[in-house]
Amino acid sequence: MVVLGIETSCDETAVALVADGVVRAEGVASQVAEHAAYGGVVPELASRRHLEAIDPLVTTCLADAGVTLDDVELIAVTRGPGLLVALLVGVQYAKGLAAALSIPLIGVNHCLAHLYVAEAEGDVVYPYLGLVVSGGHTHLFRVSGPTDVRLLGHTVDDAAGEAFDKVGKMVGLPYPAGPEIDRLAATGDPAAIGLPRPMARRDNLLLSFSGLKTAVRTHLERAGQLPEAGTTAPTGQALADLCASFQRAAVETIVPKVVRAATREGLTRVVVGGGVAANRGLRTALSALPGLDIHFIRPAWCADNGVMIATLGEARYRAGVRHDLDLAPIPGLMPLLDEEGVARVAR
Ligand code: KG4
Ligand code: ZN
Repeated sequence: MVVLGIETSCDETAVALVADGVVRAEGVASQVAEHAAYGGVVPELASRRHLEAIDPLVTTCLADAGVTLDDVELIAVTRGPGLLVALLVGVQYAKGLAAALSIPLIGVNHCLAHLYVAEAEGDVVYPYLGLVVSGGHTHLFRVSGPTDVRLLGHTVDDAAGEAFDKVGKMVGLPYPAGPEIDRLAATGDPAAIGLPRPMARRDNLLLSFSGLKTAVRTHLERAGQLPEAGTTAPTGQALADLCASFQRAAVETIVPKVVRAATREGLTRVVVGGGVAANRGLRTALSALPGLDIHFIRPAWCADNGVMIATLGEARYRAGVRHDLDLAPIPGLMPLLDEEGVARVAR
């Protein structure tokens, strides 16, 4: 089956052409540099850029794959979660193509697609514990198949990537700060600054990052290193130590919940996806856990991409899921999970 995957939920326009499970072409038009000037994603700007980028990207992707629109058999598009005005561009474009070509259309859950892209990497054995750690999500799922998913736990405030980005912003690192904190942390001392691991010890599958972010702010304020309070951000070794200490605390907020979820669910296989899955501190800590078989999505597919949308779209289509031209974006994860019939047992 020849599937065109389309992603426009945030600040990356991404498409991919997947044929019989093989990725034939993919392309990403990133707007990150433009949004960086504002310290975060500006929805209307994102929407406009998606509109400009999407058609040329699809044309290039088809040419790279050596196929034409007439060869496409299924269109998979991100339906949520994400920014409404950004999602609308992809959904409307996908509907137009599906109607013009008289081929089926399927709306895809972006958060779950961060895990299901594992299928594009090779054989996946279900069930597994899925950890999605991105700029928008920190969620734990029990994944038993393309239409058999349960939400086990989630952050009660910020997502992990959001915490990286906000801490980076505090010390003047450009958005998104996750990769730079990861890089700087490598030369810092993770024990240099005492920071909390919010909710890590609680016997539940809920996570929280906002207290950690506040603790970093308080530390910077006390140290006279908070630019927003009129002082100068740390540099050199002090910045590396801050990054290492924060990253260690963020990782140690996540890891105990992965262990708890796996134990409770009796799962040994774990798939980790989303932008923060590229983090080296997280990879090292999870890999060191005894008794767990951890599969990290390859870094290129941890970031938003079209392959993950095409892959989950096809899997759900084969499982009998159908959408029509009434398909509408659903910006929030919880309403989308409800619409998809995904049980929530977060506790
Ligand atoms: O999955 P993604 O591309 O977009 C969302 O769906 O949110 O994730 C982007 C997030 C950003 O917050 C970015 O700072 C973070 O992933 N990120 C990282 C790393 N690479 C990207 N965070 C920590 N360490 C990294 N190496
Ligand atoms: Zn994402």
